[in-house]
Amino acid sequence: MSGAGLLGSAQSVSQAVALHCEGITKAFQGVHAVNGAAFEIPQGQITALIGPNGAGKTTVVNVLSGAMKCDAGRAFLGDTEITNWPSYKIARQGLLRTFQLSRELGGLTVLENLLTAPPHQAGDSLVNVLLRPGSIRRQEREHAERALHLLEVYRLYRHRDTRARELSGGQKKLLEMARAVMASPKVLLLDEPMAGVNPALIDLIGDYILDLKRSGVTVLMIEHNLNVVEKICDYVIVLAEGRTLATGRLSELRENTEVVKAYLGEVMDAGAAR
Ligand SMILES: Nc1ncnc2c1ncn2[C@@H]1O[C@H](COP(=O)(O)OP(=O)(O)OP(=O)(O)O)[C@@H](O)[C@H]1O
Ligand SMILES: [Mg+2]
Repeated sequence: MSGAGLLGSAQSVSQAVALHCEGITKAFQGVHAVNGAAFEIPQGQITALIGPNGAGKTTVVNVLSGAMKCDAGRAFLGDTEITNWPSYKIARQGLLRTFQLSRELGGLTVLENLLTAPPHQAGDSLVNVLLRPGSIRRQEREHAERALHLLEVYRLYRHRDTRARELSGGQKKLLEMARAVMASPKVLLLDEPMAGVNPALIDLIGDYILDLKRSGVTVLMIEHNLNVVEKICDYVIVLAEGRTLATGRLSELRENTEVVKAYLGEVMDAGAAR
């Protein structure tokens, strides 16, 4: 597993890298959304990806998760190059993501949304269907137990038979997270997991993300709320105009005049005005 480079000397000595990218570039109709972004995501930590609106954060996550192909650059999950792989193949390698605007399967029930999440289903294989029906039934039972457990944890159990499209915005965010967790990710990319949710849920979602870290999942989360970043994130990447402007701890970045000028100043002023 790669371990050197952009994390800086203090971290690179001992810190393995779960995911890294270099020179990621993506343009839409000739306009660069991402323009050479490069960073490393330390394994087993929670990393925040922050930056102004339109900085290219979601586009980077789209590229890393295979939802979008980049024009240039390379991405690696551990030592495996995943550049421009399709998302199903990246998911099989253990990298899952959630969306800024929830993409639950609205016509399915909450429980069905979870049951369709795991990437390796024994019943997907014709050989298993024909020769090992018992193993399929066992796996289905295990998946159902895990799904119901996750729905309890994510406070969605009583909505298990509700069509996903009928959930509130916050509940949809929780469902997206539970769906991703159901697939047992090694690396989870969360695009604004707390945006638009009831403030009472923000701490809860933060606790879920900390739980994921405790269970060994590496998390990269796009987040605008600096209180959340301060509370739960170990490490921060600042993206501005499609480039990595700076990386480090939030406390260090607050002292970085370039970062304050590009983003933090504006967010801190907004926070102070509230
Ligand atoms: N599918 C697309 N087609 C055309 N332009 C796009 C597309 N997706 C993103 N863009 C443009 O690329 C730029 C970066 O967008 P992106 O959504 O990655 O920013 P972001 O950092 O996630 O912003 P926000 O904080 O508002 O979510 C923006 O100018 C956006 O309008
Ligand atoms: Mg975005």
